[in-house]
Amino acid sequence: MTLATRKVSFLPFLLLIFCTINPSNSATDTFVYGGCSQLKFISGSPYEYNVNTILTSLVNSAMFNSYNSFTAPASGSDSQDTVYGLFQCRGDLSNGDCARCVAKAASQLGTLCLESIGGGLQLEGCFVKYDNTTFLGVEDKTVVVRRCGPLISTSSDSLARRDAVLGYLGASDGTYKPFRIGGSGDVQGLAQFVGDLSPSECQDCLSEAIGRLKTDCTAAKWGDMYLAKCYARY
Ligand SMILES: *[C@@H]1O[C@H](CO)[C@@H](O)[C@H](O)[C@H]1NC(C)=O
Repeated sequence: MTLATRKVSFLPFLLLIFCTINPSNSATDTFVYGGCSQLKFISGSPYEYNVNTILTSLVNSAMFNSYNSFTAPASGSDSQDTVYGLFQCRGDLSNGDCARCVAKAASQLGTLCLESIGGGLQLEGCFVKYDNTTFLGVEDKTVVVRRCGPLISTSSDSLARRDAVLGYLGASDGTYKPFRIGGSGDVQGLAQFVGDLSPSECQDCLSEAIGRLKTDCTAAKWGDMYLAKCYARY
């Protein structure tokens, strides 16, 4: 069973926890989704040491990068205890905000996914994930969170602007842009990939997210579509 399939069932529980504990955090820290593997590791085991190493490496790296991945032990041998991890900050965050977000996510993961073999957490400003399977560089278009706002008139100008913004976000000009932002009138949109994907995989993931925003949210005033390795919102 993969991590992604478990996320959904955990969601109501997690939302409740984070709304209760952190009612007044800045937008960057706002909880979007999280999930943990049901399998647990043994406290004090080499695996636990490697999980802690990964989370520490991610937090330290986020002071200087908006994306990075790590393997512990670094040799990446096929050991039972190997842990893989990555973080991705939203592309418009400063280094300081990225580091704060990843630190927050890593610490929340430690509590939320206590002794879980794998865990993932998406805050508004950053995504952090670790697991014992190699998810690094693997495209994954599983829908994790889909939220659609109230419907507006299909003849509305806003809808035309929405389609224009999504078209802009989904257009590939051949350059590698993990973060895209665009707006038209009152409609703002943004899209973000996880930096371990190749440019063509990123484009493919984003096309899927944007296509689903249009088909699933139809004429909604706003929409959020989080796939496992990319998201698009307007
Ligand atoms: C991940 O951990 C689980 C539980 O210990 C184990 O069954 C599985 O084989 C591990 N996967 C890898 C790739 O090591």
